[in-house]
Amino acid sequence: PPLTEILNLHDFESIAKLVMSEKAWAYYSSAADDEITLRENHSAFHRIWFRPRVLRDVTDVDFSTTVLGQKSSMPIYITATALGKLGHPDGELNLTRAAGKHGVIQMIPTLASCSFDELVDAALAGQSQFLQLYVNKDRERSKELVQHAEKRGIKGLFITVDAPQLGRREKDMRMKFDDAAPDEQKKEGKEVIRDQGAARAISTFIDPSLSWKDLKWFKSITKMPIILKGVQTWEDALLAAKAGVQGVVLSNHGGRQLDFAPSGVEVLIEVVQKLKEELGMTFPNPDFQIFVDGGVRRATDVLKAIALGATAVGIGRPFLYAFSAYGQLGVERALTILHDEFEMDMRLLGAPTLKDIVPSMVDTKSITSH
Ligand code: FNR
Repeated sequence: PPLTEILNLHDFESIAKLVMSEKAWAYYSSAADDEITLRENHSAFHRIWFRPRVLRDVTDVDFSTTVLGQKSSMPIYITATALGKLGHPDGELNLTRAAGKHGVIQMIPTLASCSFDELVDAALAGQSQFLQLYVNKDRERSKELVQHAEKRGIKGLFITVDAPQLGRREKDMRMKFDDAAPDEQKKEGKEVIRDQGAARAISTFIDPSLSWKDLKWFKSITKMPIILKGVQTWEDALLAAKAGVQGVVLSNHGGRQLDFAPSGVEVLIEVVQKLKEELGMTFPNPDFQIFVDGGVRRATDVLKAIALGATAVGIGRPFLYAFSAYGQLGVERALTILHDEFEMDMRLLGAPTLKDIVPSMVDTKSITSH
C-alpha cells in the first residue's frame, strides 16, 4: 500500500512481514525464549491510564525537548538496532537521513551494517547522534571507537549492560547467517559462526566480564556523557547515579535478552520513587536522565513515560520495519505520524508543553497493585 495509507506504527510491522526476507524478519522480530517479556513491553503500557485535564488553552502545543543537552523535536530517539542492511540495502543510513529531516536523535549501534563514519558523514550540520557501545574483550578496541566517536562529534555514549551474552532468540537461531557481517566484526577478523542465526554470529567479541569497576575507566577515556543502557531494577539505577554516570536507559533490549525481565516503563515507577527517597532527586533531571525503551508504538506510550519522569523514550523495531518496507520515506512517515499523534494527544491531555505532563496525569493503580 502507498505510504499515505499507513496510519500508525503498527501498520509498518504487518507490511514488513510480507515484504522482508525470512532471515531479516526472524532477526528483527524475534525475542528471547517464549517472548513473554516482548509481550509485556506492550501490555505494561496498557495498564497505565491518563487523567486528562480540560479547559486549558491548547491552541499551541510544544513537545520539543532537550536530550543530554541536545535539541530534539520530540521526546523520542531512534534507538540502536544492529544489522540494518538485512532489511534494506541502505541500512542505517535510512535512519540517519530521516532523523536529520525531522530533528530527532539517532543512536548509532556498534554493530551497524554501515560503517560508523558513513553514518556520521550522512548527518546534517547540527544533527546530533549518540553511540551505542558493546564493550569489546579487547578494551583498546573499545577505547579507539569511543575516542573516535567523540572526535567526530557524537554527543552521548550508551553502554549496553544487559547483554554479557546474547539471549536465545529461537526464530533467529533457526536461520543460517550468510549476510555481510557488520564493519566492527570484520575489523575484528574473527570467524563468524554461521549456523545459529544473525545475533550469535555477530556477538562473539562482547565482554561478559564488564562490571561497575570499569565505569571509572570509561569516564577517564571520554568527556561524552555516559548512559547505561539496559538497567532493570532501582538498585542498579541507584548504583548508576552513585557511580556518576549521566543517566540510564530502563530497557530489556526489546525482550531479546532475559525473558521475564520487567518492562522499562514499569521499572521507571520504582526507580523514580527510590531515587527520590535515597538521593532526594526529582525527575526529569538534567544531571541524571532516565530513558525508557521497549514496546513504544504510540505517542500516548511516550507521554506516559514522560509523566512518570523520563526525559525521552527510545523506539526500535517500528523504524526497522518502516525502512524495510519503504526505505527512508518509511522512517519519515513514521516520524510524521508520531509528530501528529503528539500534537493531538497533548491537546487532549490539556498539556501545552512537556512540563505540563506531570505525574498526576497518569493513573498507575493497576501497575503498582500487581
Ligand atoms: C536491538 N537492540 C539493540 N540494543 C543494543 O544495545 N545494541 C544492539 O546492537 C541492538 N540491536 C538490536 C537489534 C534489533 C533487531 C532489535 C529489535 C533490537 C535493542 C534496542 O536498542 C531496544 O532496546 C529495543 O529495540 C526497544 O524495543 P522496541 O522499540 O524494538 O520494542
